[in-house]
Amino acid sequence: MLRTVRDLGDIKGKRVLLRSDFNVPINKDGDILDDTRIVEELPTIEYLLKKGAKLIICSHFGRPKGYDKYLSLFPVAVNLMKRFPNKVKFCEQVVGDVAQKAVENLKDGHILLLENTRFDPREEANDPSFVKQLASYADIFVNDAFGTAHRKHASNYGVAIKLPSCIGFLIEKEIQVFSDAMKHPKHPFVAVFGGAKVDDKLQLLSSIVRKADTLLIGGGMAYTFLMAQGVNIGKSIVSFDRMNDAKNILHEAALNGVKIVLPVDHVALNTETNRVVKTKQLTRELVGLDIGKKTTDLFVKEIAKAEQVLWNGPLGKYEEPKFKKGTMKIAKAIAKSDAYSIVGGGDSVSAVKASGFADQISYLSTGGGASLKLIEGAMLPALEAIDQI
Ligand code: 3PG
Repeated sequence: MLRTVRDLGDIKGKRVLLRSDFNVPINKDGDILDDTRIVEELPTIEYLLKKGAKLIICSHFGRPKGYDKYLSLFPVAVNLMKRFPNKVKFCEQVVGDVAQKAVENLKDGHILLLENTRFDPREEANDPSFVKQLASYADIFVNDAFGTAHRKHASNYGVAIKLPSCIGFLIEKEIQVFSDAMKHPKHPFVAVFGGAKVDDKLQLLSSIVRKADTLLIGGGMAYTFLMAQGVNIGKSIVSFDRMNDAKNILHEAALNGVKIVLPVDHVALNTETNRVVKTKQLTRELVGLDIGKKTTDLFVKEIAKAEQVLWNGPLGKYEEPKFKKGTMKIAKAIAKSDAYSIVGGGDSVSAVKASGFADQISYLSTGGGASLKLIEGAMLPALEAIDQI
């Protein structure tokens, strides 16, 4: 069993390095558009402060190539300063003399937020020299960055090897929710999958097909399945490399009596006229970019029968208003159903929030790729180095 913050014992005056995932959406003026990831981290922060730790927090933010002022964690520091008045300091360095000094001056029960770990290229390379410097600032390492736990970087994996380590409350909760839902699902269990990353998600579909009663597949990933069935998909996105995997999943579903529902109509873009059309058939010049009305109705009907729904990935190119209807209707259907509902994946969570029904979803995960790993039943890579009890 993974060690958690509850198992830390007396940490008064100890330097605790907390790895959070503060990769929050932000606009060009530096305003945080959705601070869920910060809010979800508060129980761990509050617990460690109450125990009198000197709390050094680090996180990545976006995918910078070197320093980028638009990807500074300063707006997150401001958010934390409002929540913990006079207790938060921001350090404009991740590692170095300034960071070292700031750690030395940190008081018990106070927070030091370090700058974006990815400003240093050694972070993603899990470079030993970076790990050594970061680890030297602390006595204990706490990983609570669920959103990043599918990666093995210096600040979430390397330091866990160097320091006594444990997980925080957020990671503990996410693991619990997904493991309960996958090990003891309520039936009928309806899984809704979309998004364009077929390659990333096929592994997952192979494991879901053994657990769910119904699989609703839309979005970019549907076209590989439609093509595997010999349906014309026009110019829609497809993974030829994964065609056989898609065939195997369809085959396995048929053998196990799992119902797979694929789109029967589409909202598509005509690449020759640049017009949006609603169609049952995708001819040569068409790219399917949303599920059509009939498909939406079929999906909604299946969701209404569910006792448990798991949703990952939008059902179309929902960021464009012309192609968002399907995704929004499915978000609403899941929210309105009485089923226990879990939504994971950055895009699906944003879609649920944009639909205005987020508060009616039973569980919104803070992780995209990390939640996929848990659905697969795999260990989160970053946690391989965490101490066990
Ligand atoms: C996320 O937003 O999914 C996490 O913060 C991980 O970000 P990354 O995909 O850039 O590693």
